[in-house]
Amino acid sequence: MKAVIPAAGLGTRFLPATKEQPKEMLPVAEKPVIQYAVEEGLVCSDEVVIVNSRDKKVIENHFASNDKLLTHLKEVGKDAAYDVVKHAGDLNVSYVYQDEALGLGHAVLMAAPKTGDEAFFVMLGDVICPDNDVLPAMKKISDEHNGASVIAVVEVPMEKVDRFGVIAGEDLGDGVWKIDKLVEKPPVDEAPSNKAVLGRYLLSPRVMELLKTTKPGVGGEIQLTDALDAVLAEEEMYALVVRHDQAYDTGTIETWISTNMAMFAKDNGRLPAEDQWA
Ligand code: UTP
Repeated sequence: MKAVIPAAGLGTRFLPATKEQPKEMLPVAEKPVIQYAVEEGLVCSDEVVIVNSRDKKVIENHFASNDKLLTHLKEVGKDAAYDVVKHAGDLNVSYVYQDEALGLGHAVLMAAPKTGDEAFFVMLGDVICPDNDVLPAMKKISDEHNGASVIAVVEVPMEKVDRFGVIAGEDLGDGVWKIDKLVEKPPVDEAPSNKAVLGRYLLSPRVMELLKTTKPGVGGEIQLTDALDAVLAEEEMYALVVRHDQAYDTGTIETWISTNMAMFAKDNGRLPAEDQWA
């Protein structure tokens, strides 16, 4: 089973930082954001497929071996640094390309030759689930429902639902919902719920088929949510509601800063000192 990480977008909400530097490569604590997603993906899959843009080679360089740096670190005895550099280069990552940022759905479709006729994960490369516990919980729900697609959602304030894909459905208890509708960025007064699609999906192979005929939707982009809504006419689909401390977004300056604070506190048991010279 493969995990697909679309990372070919333009990152326009985080300019000018993302003019040359991909937003997926911005650091959170000591690692680039996308490395968290790659490591999480490899917990439940045998290979992570990054859908990259040809302008974002720095992502590929990060996951390639760097023999010159490794030799230097070994020579100067920086063993801990050696280990983290070696680890990044050893992660099992492959690449496909999206030549134009035509939308998340289009990016996912580029990975079809890799996923074949198997179910697959989709993970947004700018979202972190630091405990790596979301994908296994989704897989369990899928296994309990004949391999159905499962989407992770998070509850957001009603006035913010117009920034997200949103689900409607039936509460089955224990944080599991049976989905009967999906809407991309609904106006606040038309949103069917406050359960927002987070960026972790376990999808049946039928999704790839339907993406081939999905027309551009909101924002003129080929939306993954629209293909999922089409799948709903044919197959059951479930949602897992995750807690706010199970997932962090890094796609805007505000969320990136707050995610850095949360990850630093998680690793160090405290927030950074307010006065860094003290
Ligand atoms: P976003 O909408 O958050 O990313 O898509 P974006 O388009 O890069 O950012 P903004 O909105 O302009 O600031 C979520 C993920 O999907 C990828 C992005 O790289 C990001 O990691 N994506 C998005 C693609 O791979 N291709 C696309 O056409 C759109």
